[in-house]
Amino acid sequence: MIDKLHELQQTGRDEISGADSPETLEQLRVTYLGRKSDLNAVLKQLGKMDAERRIEVSRLANQIKKEFTERIEARREILADGALQERLRRERVDITLPGRFYRRGHLHPATQVIRQMNAIFHRMGFSVLEGPEIETDERCFEMLNIPKDHPSRDLQDTLYIDYPEIILRTHTSSMEIHAMLNMKPPIRVVVPGKSYRYETINPINNYMFHQYEGLAVGKGITLAHLKGTLDTFVRAMFGEKHRTRFRCKYYPQVEPGVGVDMDCSFCGSAGCATCKYRGWIEMLGAGMVHPNVLRNVGIDPDEYSGFAFGMGLDRIVMSRFHIDDIRKLYNGDICYPD
Ligand code: DAH
Repeated sequence: MIDKLHELQQTGRDEISGADSPETLEQLRVTYLGRKSDLNAVLKQLGKMDAERRIEVSRLANQIKKEFTERIEARREILADGALQERLRRERVDITLPGRFYRRGHLHPATQVIRQMNAIFHRMGFSVLEGPEIETDERCFEMLNIPKDHPSRDLQDTLYIDYPEIILRTHTSSMEIHAMLNMKPPIRVVVPGKSYRYETINPINNYMFHQYEGLAVGKGITLAHLKGTLDTFVRAMFGEKHRTRFRCKYYPQVEPGVGVDMDCSFCGSAGCATCKYRGWIEMLGAGMVHPNVLRNVGIDPDEYSGFAFGMGLDRIVMSRFHIDDIRKLYNGDICYPD
C-alpha cells in the first residue's frame, strides 16, 4: 500500500507539472483529488486497517493530498500568468548577445554626384531645372538645329513613344529649348536628368543614362565664359590640380562647338588603357549656342549670345565610386561592400 502511494505521488507530480492548460489541470485535479480518486479510495479503506498501519498510511495519503493541492494551485497560477511569463521563468535573457546591426541607407550614387555638381554650379549663379523625359522630336532635335535628315541624328538612336513625333529624350539638350522658351535672358541653368537611346547594352552603355546640361544666355557671353565656367567646375569637382583641354568638335546645336577633355587622373596624363593612351579623357560636348537655335526660341542672336554644355554623368559616378559596370547602377541589386 505504501509503495502504491509513493508511485501515485510520483506520477501525480509529473502530470501536474506537465499540465499545459487550465482544462488539463482541472482534469488532473478530479483524477487525483476527486471523490473517485485513488487517494480517496485509500482513505476510505483506513477503517479496515490495524492501528499502526492506519497511522502510517493516513499520514502519507494526507501528505500527498496536501502536496497535490499545493502543486495544482501553483501550476494554475503559472498557467494563468500566460505563456510569456512562463517562458521568462524557464529561459534566461542573455544580455551579452550583441545587438542587431542595421545598415543605414544612402542616396543613390548618381544622386550624390548630381547634388555635388548642383552645389558647384549654384555657387556660380546657376539654377537647377528639371523637365520632361517624354519629348517631341521638335524640341529634342528640330529646334536644336538638328533637322530630320541630319546625319548627326545617327548618333542618337531614338526610342519612340508615338512615331514619329513623340519620343524619349535622347539628351538633356531638349531642356535648353524649354528654358529659353520659358525664361527671359539672362538665363543660367543646369539640368541633371535621364536620357534614353536605343543602345546595345554593355558595361559602359545603357539604354537609360544620366546627362548634365548647362546653359547660359545673356548679353556679351563668350567662349571665355564657357572656358572659365568649366575650368572652375572641373577643379571644384575633381581637385585643384586638374586641367581641361578644349578641342574643336562639331555639334549642330552650337557654333563653334568644342569637345572638352580633362587630364587623365589614372596615369597623370602619361597614357594608359583608361584614357586610351591619350593622356586626356573626353568629358563633355559644348559650344556657343547656334544663332539658329536662338532664333527658333525667339531670342535675337544680334543682341544675345550664350554657351551650352552637356556631359554624361554615369561615367563620373562610376569612376568616383569604383563601379565597373553601368548596369550595376540601375539593376536594383543592393550589393553591399564587404
Ligand atoms: N547633346 C549632346 C549629346 O548628347 C552633347 C552636347 C553637345 C550638349 C554640345 C550641349 C552642347 O549642350 O552645346 O551628344
